[in-house]
Amino acid sequence: ALVSMRELLDHAAVNGYGIPAFNVNNLEQVQAVMTAADEVGAPVILQASAGARKYAGEPFIKHLIQAATEQWPHIPLVMHQDHGQSPAVCHGAIDLGFSSVMMDGSLMEDGKTPASFEYNVDVTRRVVDMAHKMGVSVEGELGCLGNLETGEAGEEDGIGAEGKLDHSQMLTDPEEAAQFVKATGLDALAIAIGTSHGAYKFSRKPTGDILAIYRVKEIHQRIPNTHLVMHGSSSVPQELLALINQYGGKMKETYGVPVEEIQEAIKHGVRKINIDTDIRLAMTAACRKFLVENPDKFDAREWLKPAREAAKQLCKQRYLEFGCEGQA
Ligand code: G3H
Ligand code: 13P
Ligand code: ZN
Repeated sequence: ALVSMRELLDHAAVNGYGIPAFNVNNLEQVQAVMTAADEVGAPVILQASAGARKYAGEPFIKHLIQAATEQWPHIPLVMHQDHGQSPAVCHGAIDLGFSSVMMDGSLMEDGKTPASFEYNVDVTRRVVDMAHKMGVSVEGELGCLGNLETGEAGEEDGIGAEGKLDHSQMLTDPEEAAQFVKATGLDALAIAIGTSHGAYKFSRKPTGDILAIYRVKEIHQRIPNTHLVMHGSSSVPQELLALINQYGGKMKETYGVPVEEIQEAIKHGVRKINIDTDIRLAMTAACRKFLVENPDKFDAREWLKPAREAAKQLCKQRYLEFGCEGQA
């Protein structure tokens, strides 16, 4: 059944676990997340970006997620709009039946220019006022995602600041976070701690200077009752990069957010962990392998099946690692 984000995150906080929020764009990804959750008894957050809504088309996104509630009625499911860039986008998502929206006021409507604190408070509070009337939860973001060494947001064409960011923009300030939560009344707060979207997050296995888990602890100490959200949290498994390259891919050396660091963050208030890239890598690796090994095959279902299975395994692994087993 469709539930609000607030309900799931409150339960996660009381019981000390974190919920991966998986980005979905199509049928196979929805099936992968849902079957993984079903096998381990996990609650589900499916999220659709503006890009996903554009790729699938609004009716398809809406009905794919509704189909999931029909096929798996026993699984508590949140349908979440990822990175809404304006109150209008959030409004549109609520009209489509989303039970949760993210108003990302850390950037201006272009999704590239860092916004002022005042702008962020204003748009986020407006969305909270509108959404809460309809029982819809709201995630806000304070701070800009970006690599602490290079000042780059990553993701050329995705969601991320353009140009160089400085350190203070890329690390959410605990005091400002407290003011932000108080001024907006949001349900969950996305914070910036050195992660970024996409596969190219870190040029080496991250240490405390480039992945600021200590900042999660400081923020959680200041606002212990606020559910924290980590974006850019794919772990970018080295095995998947190797498989992709073994079967004709050309990905460069790169490192993601280690699962142990996420587990540490979950001990300190992180309840929602956004993952998109890892599913992309898993599906691409499986698809490349299948097509190279079976050059005579041409039925799309034959290569989508191993891709869907690989995505499912990845989701299942994250559910177990973040403590979701049996929590649904
Ligand atoms: O926030 C970024 C997510 O990975 C969504 O990516 O905009 O390509 O759908 P997308
Ligand atoms: P990744 O690119 O690390 O999977 O992050 C996804 C994300 O934050 C979606 O909002
Ligand atoms: Zn994100």
